[in-house]
Amino acid sequence: MSDRKILITSALPYANGPIHLGHLVEYIQTDIWSRFQKQRGNECYYICADDTHGTPIMLKADREGIEPEDLIAQVGKEHLADFTEFGIEFDNYHSTHSEENKHFSSLIYKRLRDDGHISSRSITQAYDPVKEMFLPDRFIKGDCPKCNAKDQYGDSCEVCGATYSPIELKNAISAVSGEKPIEKESVHYFFKLADFNAMLKAWTTSEGHLQPEVSNKLAEWLENGLQDWDISRDAPYFGFEIPDAPGKYFYVWLDAPVGYMASFKNLCSKTDLDFNEFWAPDSKTELYHFIGKDIIYFHALFWPAMLHGAKFRTPSAVFAHGFLTINGEKMSKSRGTFIKARTYLDHLDPEYLRYYFAAKLSAGIDDIDLNFEDFTQRVNSDLVGKVVNIASRCSGFIKKRFAGQLSPQCAEPELFHQFTLASENIAELYETREYGKAMREIMTLADKANQYIDEKKPWLIAKEEGKDQELHEICSMGINLFRLLVAYLKPVLPKLATESEDFLNIQSQPWPTNAQPLVGHEIKAFKALMIRVEAPKIAAIIEDSKENLEKTAVAPAKIFEPIADEIEFDDFAKIDLRIAKIVKAEHVKGADKLLQLTVDIGDESLNIFAGIKSAYKPEDLEGKLTVVVANLKPRKMKFGMSEGMVLAAGPGGADLWVLHPDDGAIAGMRVK
Ligand code: MSP
Ligand code: ZN
Repeated sequence: MSDRKILITSALPYANGPIHLGHLVEYIQTDIWSRFQKQRGNECYYICADDTHGTPIMLKADREGIEPEDLIAQVGKEHLADFTEFGIEFDNYHSTHSEENKHFSSLIYKRLRDDGHISSRSITQAYDPVKEMFLPDRFIKGDCPKCNAKDQYGDSCEVCGATYSPIELKNAISAVSGEKPIEKESVHYFFKLADFNAMLKAWTTSEGHLQPEVSNKLAEWLENGLQDWDISRDAPYFGFEIPDAPGKYFYVWLDAPVGYMASFKNLCSKTDLDFNEFWAPDSKTELYHFIGKDIIYFHALFWPAMLHGAKFRTPSAVFAHGFLTINGEKMSKSRGTFIKARTYLDHLDPEYLRYYFAAKLSAGIDDIDLNFEDFTQRVNSDLVGKVVNIASRCSGFIKKRFAGQLSPQCAEPELFHQFTLASENIAELYETREYGKAMREIMTLADKANQYIDEKKPWLIAKEEGKDQELHEICSMGINLFRLLVAYLKPVLPKLATESEDFLNIQSQPWPTNAQPLVGHEIKAFKALMIRVEAPKIAAIIEDSKENLEKTAVAPAKIFEPIADEIEFDDFAKIDLRIAKIVKAEHVKGADKLLQLTVDIGDESLNIFAGIKSAYKPEDLEGKLTVVVANLKPRKMKFGMSEGMVLAAGPGGADLWVLHPDDGAIAGMRVK
C-alpha cells in the first residue's frame, strides 16, 4: 500500500437541468483518474454534489409550481442515476443545500470578514417591479445597443458579440414577468480579492498547480488587477442567508466550491475519516479539482483565495479540460446533438463512450470532438476487434480441449515480460491525464498479442496430430496477455474488467506491476464481453434528441411552417377577434390541461375552457389582456360550455404564450 492520500472532485453540476454528454467528459475523466489511483493502491476519495442554489433554480421551481427543495431532490436523484449507469463511482455525492455546506460557507465568510476581507457598498441594478426581485443579466432581454438585434440577453449579443450592461439594452424587459425593469439600489457584500494578489501570483505560477496554458491566462488577469467580487444577492433568493445580514444571501458561486468540503465532511460523518487531516493548512494529503475551462476563474482565483483567507489548505492542483463538440460543432438542439446522458443510455453501452473519451483526452484544455463515425470505428476496431477478440479466439480451445485449464507453464516469458514492463509507462500516462496516449500504448500491446496469435495460427495447429501441448500453450499465452490488457483498461472500462475477471476466474486485479502469468489455472466459459456499435442505435439517439427538443423547447423550423390552406379575406373577416380582459382564472377539478377563464370582451363576458394549464398559473393570468375568438360556436365540453377561444402561441407544454401585448410570444409563431 502506498501512502498517498488523495481527495478528488469534479465540478458540481447545476440542479436545474439534466446531465448531457458534455458534462460526461468531465465526470468520465475524473472517474478514470480516481479508479486509476485506487487500482494503484492509493487511498483516494472521489466526491461530488449537486449545485442547488441561485436564481435559475428558484425560478424553475416557481414555474413548475413546486418548492425548490422538491426540485433539487428530484434532479439530484436523476443526476446520480445517470452517473451510476455511466460507471462513475463517487465515494460521496451530496448537495450544496445541506447543513454541512451552510456551516462551512458561514465559517469561511466569518473568517474572511473578521480579517477584513469583506466590504459592503450600495449598487444599482435592474429590478423587476412585478416579481419584486433583482434580475440577473440573463433574465433581462431586449434589443442589442450596438446592432439592434432583437431578443438579446442582458449581458451580451449573440448576433454581433457585443458585451454591455443590462442598463444599455434597448426596450429591455424582464424575462420573468415581461415587465420593463426599473433601476434600484441595494447594499451588496464583496470579497476583496485584491488582498490576495501576492498569494495568488505565487500560487498560480508555482509548479504543478495549474496547466501552463491556464497559468498564462491567469497571469493576464492578474496583470489587469483583481476586482472586488460581489458575493451577495438580495431576497428572494434560493440559498443561504448571510450571517449578520438579514435578507442577503450568499451568491451561488460562493457556496458552490464550499460544497466540495461539505460533501467530504458528510463522508467523514459516515466513516472514520478525519476532516482536518484533509483540509487543515498543513495537510499532507493531496487535493485535486477537475473542472471545465469555463470555470477556471472561480477555481484558480476565488477559491484558493477563499481557502487561504479562511485558513484552510489550498488545492494541490486544478485540472481543466476543454469542451465537447459533436461532429465538429457545438452541441445543438435542432441538429439532435444536444444529447442527454439518459438518451444515450437508452441505446448504447456506456463503456463505449468511456473508451472514446479516454482515447480523445489529453492533459490540455483543447476541445474534444465526438464524431460518431470515428466513435463507431474506434470502439469496433479497438475494443471488439482487438481486445475482446483475443479472449474469444483462445478461450474456445481451452474450454473444449483442455477442460478450461490453462497450461502449466508460460510459453513465452519474454513476451509476457514485455507486457508487464509497459506498466510504469502506462501508469505515468494515466497519472498525467494523457489518457489518449495511454490508450494508444495499450492498443499497441493488443496488436502485439494479436500478431502473436496470427503467427502461431492455433486454428491450424488444432487440426494437427500430436500438437496438443503447443496448442494449449499458445491459447494460454493469449489468455494471459488478454488479462494484462484488461488490467490496464480497468480504470476506463470497469464493467468489461469485472466481467473479464469473472471469466478468468480471478480476483479484482490491482495495477499489474509485478504480475505473474496464470498457469495451471481454471477459467470459466467465454461469453461475449462487448458487442459492436451498431449504426442504427446512433441514429436513434439523434432522433430521440430531436424529439426531446420538440417536447421541451421551441423548434424553429416548425414554427413558421404553414399548417392550414389559404383562406379568402371573407373567411378571415368572419372571425370576431377581440381584446379581452381575463377577469377570473381557476383550476378545473379533474382536468389535467384546462383552466377555466372568465373574460370580459367589452359588451359581455364569456366562459372559456383553455388548454393552457401547463404554461400558466391562474393567478398569473388574472387582470391580463388577451386576444380571443369571440364568435366561436359554443361547445359543450366535459366540464361545461366553452363560449370562445383564447389565442396562444408556442410548441406546447410550459412554452405556450397566451397572446397579450407584453408577453413572450414571437411574431410568426403558429397560432393555435
Ligand atoms: N455548477 C457549476 C460548477 C460549480 S463547481 C463548484 C457548473 N455546473 S455545470 O453543470 O454547468 O457544469 C458542470 C461541469 O461540466 C463544469 O466543469 C463544466 O465545465 C462541464 N461542462 C458543461 N458542459 C460541457 C461541455 N459541453 N463540454 C465539456 N464540459 C462541460 O458549471
Ligand atoms: Zn448585437
